[in-house]
Amino acid sequence: MGSTERLCLIVVILYISQTVARGGPGSVSVVLRGPEYAYLNTKIRLSCEILGSPPPSATCQFMKVKNISLTTPQKSSSPPQPFLHDLKVMTKSTGEYYCIMTTLGKTVTSNILHLYVVIPVSGASLRSVPSPPTEFKGSSMALFCDVQKGSHLSYTWFHNRIKVTAPSSVTYNLSGNSLTVDRLRNLHAGTYYCSAWNDIGLNPRYSSSNEIQVAVKDYLTVPNLSVTLFKENSKYYANISCESAQGTVPVTFVLLLSGREADRQITNSLSAWFRVALVVGMETVTAQCRAETSYRQLNSDTRNIEMVSVGGPLHLHIDYLYNINWEVVAVRLECHISRGTFPSYLWLHNNSFMTQRSCSTISNDLQCHVLLLTDVTPVHFGHYQCHVRDSFEENSSWLQSDVVLVEGADFPGNVIEVIAVAFCCFLMLAMITSLLCLLWLSGSAVQPQHMAASEHHR
Ligand SMILES: *[C@@H]1O[C@H](CO)[C@@H](O)[C@H](O)[C@H]1NC(C)=O
Ligand SMILES: *[C@@H]1O[C@H](CO)[C@@H](O)[C@H](O)[C@H]1NC(C)=O
Ligand SMILES: *[C@@H]1O[C@H](CO)[C@@H](O)[C@H](O)[C@H]1NC(C)=O
Ligand SMILES: *[C@@H]1O[C@H](CO)[C@@H](O)[C@H](O)[C@H]1NC(C)=O
Repeated sequence: MGSTERLCLIVVILYISQTVARGGPGSVSVVLRGPEYAYLNTKIRLSCEILGSPPPSATCQFMKVKNISLTTPQKSSSPPQPFLHDLKVMTKSTGEYYCIMTTLGKTVTSNILHLYVVIPVSGASLRSVPSPPTEFKGSSMALFCDVQKGSHLSYTWFHNRIKVTAPSSVTYNLSGNSLTVDRLRNLHAGTYYCSAWNDIGLNPRYSSSNEIQVAVKDYLTVPNLSVTLFKENSKYYANISCESAQGTVPVTFVLLLSGREADRQITNSLSAWFRVALVVGMETVTAQCRAETSYRQLNSDTRNIEMVSVGGPLHLHIDYLYNINWEVVAVRLECHISRGTFPSYLWLHNNSFMTQRSCSTISNDLQCHVLLLTDVTPVHFGHYQCHVRDSFEENSSWLQSDVVLVEGADFPGNVIEVIAVAFCCFLMLAMITSLLCLLWLSGSAVQPQHMAASEHHR
């Protein structure tokens, strides 16, 4: 590179750097500044400014697309301040703005500024579909945040006064001004309100809605009926209780005795109980209960209510329960009475009472008549017996069952051996029989063949 060329390059570099620093005489740039969003009926200020070195004087005109002049050209002597224009924001103010600057005999047009007129939000209210928002589990629900006025809106939702945030929209579907739930669950119940706001970056305005209560109802399930016995003032009563596992209160429980309504109770719980007086030898009545709500009626199973004294022969059955390896895993003893509606049971092992196993149907529906021994060790071997009497007759005498013996588990081993030996015997017998059959068949088949052969020889 020669010295002349080097000089040229330096000059060019200097020129470029000066041009960049000053904006250069040939490239005057003009900037229009102002807000992008403005609320209706407010005042905003637009400013028009020359960037770079200030010229001695300039003339400025504010314009709106398309070529509507907002101001007559204003002149200013050096140094020119930004030219200002105050604008009252009206509905028709929405649009694009620019300014034209004339300086040193040149006319420069500024950038274009978009102005959006924003209507401040007001009058937010909440609307639900369905209305009122009381629905069954699994159904859908939608809430809408309506406003009387407002533009450029965003919505914030509150459930039980806690903001509903985006990551949890697995259970809520937020879209536009709505909050929807496809399948209602209990966790969706509670209060809701929304807040609508002008989403324009600065100075948002808010409007909060009224609060509404969302209720999620459970379908009522079939009531379960249970009967226990209780004594009051030396009289006996059946406690007939009805209970639904699920449902929304209030529920009306109706007691039906032999098909007729005998009593009813409106409850704020999912259960109710009724008393029915009992006397020994009374006529049998069929008890049933019905759970009712405004939308459903469900009947329980029926149960015969009677009061019969324990009596007749008493038997104790024994069953050994095996696993797949033919090992005894449990022994089931069942005390079987011929009649009696409210028996009390006592169990004896080696002639002494098993206190923890005695049980009465007076207070519970347990399987008092079954004794299950799940720990089959020598300690639990021995003799077992059950004693039964009426639970409502304190001084009645105990009926006694036969005594059964619970023993070790050598029984199943024998069974396998016996089965194995029997199977072998059967197999041998089968083989011998088929062998004999085969011999007999071949014997009778040989005869004609032999005759045919001898005929041929003739
Ligand atoms: C949310 O609602 C919108 C509009 O109703 C729908 O298009 C979208 O599929 C819904 N999303 C879910 C996850 O339910
Ligand atoms: C009847 O049974 C119900 C439920 O099992 C129980 O809450 C109630 O106390 C019982 N009433 C009497 C008098 O035993
Ligand atoms: C009961 O008697 C049997 C033998 O008859 C014995 O093996 C067992 O250990 C006895 N159990 C108890 C708890 O006395
Ligand atoms: C049961 O017997 C005791 C004394 O043996 C007596 O005091 C009590 O009154 C009797 N109870 C009934 C219900 O008969």
